[in-house]
Order: sequence, then C-alpha cells, then structure tokens
Amino acid sequence: MIARVARIAELKEIVKAWRDQTQRIALVPTMGNLHRGHLALVEHARRLASRTVVTLFVNPMQFVAGEDLDRYPRTFEQDRALLDAAGADVLFVPEVAALYPNGLDRHTEVRVPGLDALLCGASRRGHFTGVATVVTKLLNLVRPDLAVFGEKDYQQLLVIKRMVADLCIEAEIHAVETARAPNGLALSSRNAYLTEAERAIAWRLYAALCEAGDTLTRAAPSFQSIERRGRARLEEAGFQVDYFAVRRASDLMKPAPEDSDLRILAAAWLGKTRLIDNLAARKFVER
Ligand code: PAJ
Repeated sequence: MIARVARIAELKEIVKAWRDQTQRIALVPTMGNLHRGHLALVEHARRLASRTVVTLFVNPMQFVAGEDLDRYPRTFEQDRALLDAAGADVLFVPEVAALYPNGLDRHTEVRVPGLDALLCGASRRGHFTGVATVVTKLLNLVRPDLAVFGEKDYQQLLVIKRMVADLCIEAEIHAVETARAPNGLALSSRNAYLTEAERAIAWRLYAALCEAGDTLTRAAPSFQSIERRGRARLEEAGFQVDYFAVRRASDLMKPAPEDSDLRILAAAWLGKTRLIDNLAARKFVER
C-alpha cells in the first residue's frame, strides 16, 4: 500500500533511510487529478529507480492572478488508488503552509531568465518562477537520483533542465513523451473543463501541429508561413490562439534557417479553457 505523507520531516526520514541503503530514488512531481500521462512518468521512474516518490501539490505560486487555482480538479482518493496500483512507494501531499510557511509574498524565488518570458511565459507572467521554485524545493526535500517530467509541458521541461544545470542540482532530469487520447488530444487535467462541444474540436490542436510538422519535413517553406497557417487552422476550428510557433528545440529561440532540430508549440483557448501542446519536428533538408 502506498504511504501517504503530509509532513516534511516524515518524508525526509523515509528518503534518508532509502539513501542509507543506497537505493536509487526517483521523484515525479504532479498537481494531481492523475491520468495515463502521469502514470507513464511513474512507470518510467520505476524502471530506473528502486523507490519512487510522487508529489501531489497544487502549487499556488505558479498560478497567475485570475487563473484556475480554486477550481483546479482535486481527486485525491482516485489519485491515491491509481498510484497504489502503479507501484509508487510514497505519495507526498503537503499543505500549502508546509511548503510556504512564511506565505507566498516574500518567498525566495527561483527565476530562469530568458526561457521564462517566452511563449507560455509571456501570457502567464510569473508562472515559470512558481514552477521552478516549487520544483527546487521538492528536489531539495527528496534529493532524488532522477526526476521525471512530461514533454507535454515542453517549455516547463526546458526551464527545469536549465534550472537544475544552473543551480548545480545533482538529479538527472528525464523526459517522457506525451500521452494522447485516440484522436490525438494530449491528456491533461484541464481537459475536464471542456464542454462536450469543445471536446469535439479540441483534437484539432494536435492536428494543426501535425500538419505543420509534416510540411516542415516534406518541403522548405518559411517558418513564418507555417506559423500563419497553423494559427489560421485553429481559428477556423473555433480556437482563440495565444501562440503557434516554430522554435529551436534546444532553447525555444526563433530558429535560424540552418537549424534542423525544431519544436512546434501552440497554446490556444477553447471557451474558458487554455490548451497547450507541442510536437518534435525536423526540417526538410535538400540532398
Ligand atoms: P501537472 O500538470 O500535474 O503535470 C505533472 C507532470 O505530468 C508534468 O511533468 C507534466 O509534463 C506531465 N504530464 C502532464 N500531462 C501529460 C501527458 N499527456 N503526457 C505525458 N506527461 C504529462 O506540470 C505540473 O503538474 C506542475 O507544473 C509541476 C511540475 C508538478 C510543478 O508544480
């Protein structure tokens, strides 16, 4: 049976005992309302480590004012049962006051400049500082050998990799590919907000990314024309587009013509729900 731990001191005791036995420890941070995508991270962790800590914490610091902090889906009992079946060892579920004992206003911040201002960072100011800060805390509490994140949140993954390198944190960062519904829609806790009519459209976000990826591999059009077409596809389908961007996979900067390792990323609103997705792409090179 998976152990539910709420107290920091208890978590530290458990992981210290494991470390003393030279067990390899993996960390999987989540905000709960778990789906098959989260469970794929746990499976990955279990393949590489003998002990897995999953954290479930809806982190207030990464929600921008006016966002969905209060209505974010909380399904603790269901999550616990899924993690138990998946074979995770500890489920760490701290209270907000345990991680932010002095409140949020004057808390030390971990900022990853540059990467935090692009794409999702431009429309969600402060979001990645909240993510980087809480992930630093979790890494420091558990001191895992490795931590596992999803490519679904590709910008988040790069922010965390940069932060871990910059702050000389020991953990290896592993990425797992995006789990999708049969129609291509990336699984996300926020899909629960979609109405039935919106659900019937949502898969088109991935379809637009695939079309753009296909064009990039088969022909050599300008990145701008691909972005324009992607945006138009989504608008036709009924989305309000935040961004549709072709970027360099390594750092999300605008690619130079000679860059071939690319990532296409998009964020768009369907009604009151903001969806994000991304796709790896290689550029067509003439032989
Ligand atoms: P959350 O949205 O709960 O996601 C937890 C982890 O699951 C992240 O690494 C995310 O990229 C991954 N994930 C989500 N949907 C996925 C999918 N369809 N396929 C594969 N992986 C998927 O991301 C967060 O929480 C938070 O920002 C967190 C890192 C926990 C910090 O608070």
